[in-house]
Amino acid sequence: PHKIIIDTDPGVDDVLAILLALSSPEVEVALITAVYGNTHAPMTFDNLLKMYYNLGLEFAAHPESRKRFPLVSSDNKTLVAIGEDGPIGGEKHVATYFHGPDGLSNISETHPEFTPPPSKPEDEHEFVKFTSRKGWEAILDVLRAEPEGTVSVVALGPLTNVAWAAREDPETFKRVAEVVWMGGALDVPGNTSPVAEFNCFADPYAFAFLLDEVKKGAFRLVFAPLDITSPHMIPFSDLLHPALIGEDATGVAPPTPLQAFATSFLRRVRGLQAKFGLPDAMEMHDPVAVWYAIANRGRSDLASGWAVKGRAFSVERNGEITRGMCVVDRRGTGETTGGTRTENEELKSSGLNDESAEALKTEEK
Ligand code: BDR
Ligand code: CA
Repeated sequence: PHKIIIDTDPGVDDVLAILLALSSPEVEVALITAVYGNTHAPMTFDNLLKMYYNLGLEFAAHPESRKRFPLVSSDNKTLVAIGEDGPIGGEKHVATYFHGPDGLSNISETHPEFTPPPSKPEDEHEFVKFTSRKGWEAILDVLRAEPEGTVSVVALGPLTNVAWAAREDPETFKRVAEVVWMGGALDVPGNTSPVAEFNCFADPYAFAFLLDEVKKGAFRLVFAPLDITSPHMIPFSDLLHPALIGEDATGVAPPTPLQAFATSFLRRVRGLQAKFGLPDAMEMHDPVAVWYAIANRGRSDLASGWAVKGRAFSVERNGEITRGMCVVDRRGTGETTGGTRTENEELKSSGLNDESAEALKTEEK
């Protein structure tokens, strides 16, 4: 299996995405790093542990279900690390309005049975091994230890940990096979502001930094923006167990621990979506990025439209109302305002030639 590092902010769809990865023999999860985003980093880390705890309950109740998660075993534990709890630049924002204060629809309050007994991260856990290295350090450790070009980073939250890693040790970071990121919005409206997708909004400085590196050819970034992820939905009726939400469960097997866990946090999301007149289905943002990592690694043909290369855009870092917007060049010049170009290049990209650019500058003075 191809090794992946999952950088994540669980997060309701993050949990589904991680479960998808853990149940896919095509990939081996070498490391999971928690980052702030849907909620604060200590809580996204706790949610990871919560997910593994409920997997354990599932295995205990239904030993045959272990076969569906071939890489989850007590003797070969997944390495986990806590990452950054705030962005590289700009104010910190969390998506608790959607994911609940604890990042999982507040189930730590409403469904204490899904929370493992209190423990310190460094305590012995059944399926995970904790490293006290910072998230970005742990990412670099894995990239250093594995053969070059064999490990992908699948980022499902703000890119803060990833940008730290690439900034602190660019040479090691270049060893990555590719970075796959769920984030951004190109030709569709945002979900956090009229123009910005949440992961991009949360740390646009991190994305801007990585995008510059990608444009310089430092590594490959496969990008799954809302344009691609939003249309992939699973009806809530296929995700929630009817017996747990007061619906007719005739002929349906009783809920397993994992179904009960998922139903506990997804039902609030269903309610929220109904309130806002959204479809009765869950958008599979983060699972789509994991799906790419599972099925399409390095397939630039399949990735066309996903890869940054095909589109010319820059990300707005600190706009008054456009923070986190992917500013796409729709003029077809292939140029974007990036902030790294000279004044003349900026002026030329708006259609002026050298002479008129000079004239304009003189006029302005
Ligand atoms: C992204 O933002 C988060 O709320 C989700 O987990 C996903 O990563 C979608 O915009
Ligand atoms: Ca996420």
